[in-house]
Amino acid sequence: MRKRTKRSLVVSLGVLLGLVGLAPAMAADLEAGKEAYESYCAACHGENGRHLTAPDLANPDFLSITSPQLLRAMIETGRPGRPMPAWKDMLEDEEMQDLVAYIKGWQKGPDVPLSKGKITGNVKAGAAIFVTTCAGCHGTQGAGGSAPALNNPGFLHVASDPYIKKTLEVGRPGTAMRSFLGAPGLANLSDQELNHVVAYIRSWDKRR
Ligand code: HEC
Ligand code: HEC
Repeated sequence: MRKRTKRSLVVSLGVLLGLVGLAPAMAADLEAGKEAYESYCAACHGENGRHLTAPDLANPDFLSITSPQLLRAMIETGRPGRPMPAWKDMLEDEEMQDLVAYIKGWQKGPDVPLSKGKITGNVKAGAAIFVTTCAGCHGTQGAGGSAPALNNPGFLHVASDPYIKKTLEVGRPGTAMRSFLGAPGLANLSDQELNHVVAYIRSWDKRR
């Protein structure tokens, strides 16, 4: 499946240009990425990421907050116990790079920067909000339902607190996952309440 000759030619060219100080960012092989996507991912994630049974990877608000590094970590780690396999030992490094570049290539808008560090909130308050606002789709204690499992180590180990919070702020428009930050009275949540929910979700992380 790999186009080895073409790849090594590109690599040699990159090395040559690097030597004369003109190193361009190593171009990923998008054709190979597309091939990998269609062979390994499309059955669940659908053509161009538009979803079938798994999340929509072409969603603009997903791609804008998901760096190539995070996307790769999500793919490599998978979601143990859920349909999403861990691809770490199943794809070669180059194939993984091409795949990530191919999926990132669907992004329409600019990258949305995330803050760093832990988010503190009240776990009990977060639990109460989760039961009424999230569990209907994400399952009791985030075990998954019509929506992804949030208590899953594959999710918790790669998704930072700011990433989870940003997901709640912007949602995934076009899917069942709406934006929750907004004016009170419309079943929206305040910034502080979002922090509580993030703290509750993080409380499922067994590594802590
Ligand atoms: C057997 C079905 C299946 C296959 C094959 C599969 N996935 Fe998934 N994937 C899922 C499901 C289902 C989820 C959501 C996890 C959950 O429901 O808890 C998911 C989640 C993800 C996520 C996280 C999405 C988000 O919203 O945060 C990424 C990224 C992803 N998959 C990428 C891929 C890539 C790339 C491939 C191919 C190498 C792939 N998946 C193959 C079923 C699959
Ligand atoms: C009406 C159903 C619904 C409700 C209610 C809902 N979600 Fe979601 N959520 C989804 C779906 C569906 C997705 C996957 C989006 C996709 O298919 O692309 C998702 C995705 C997510 C993700 C990204 C998961 C991943 O695998 O990367 C997080 C985090 C999340 N939701 C948190 C929450 C929280 C917290 C609440 C409550 C405040 C909530 N959601 C309420 C349906 C819902």
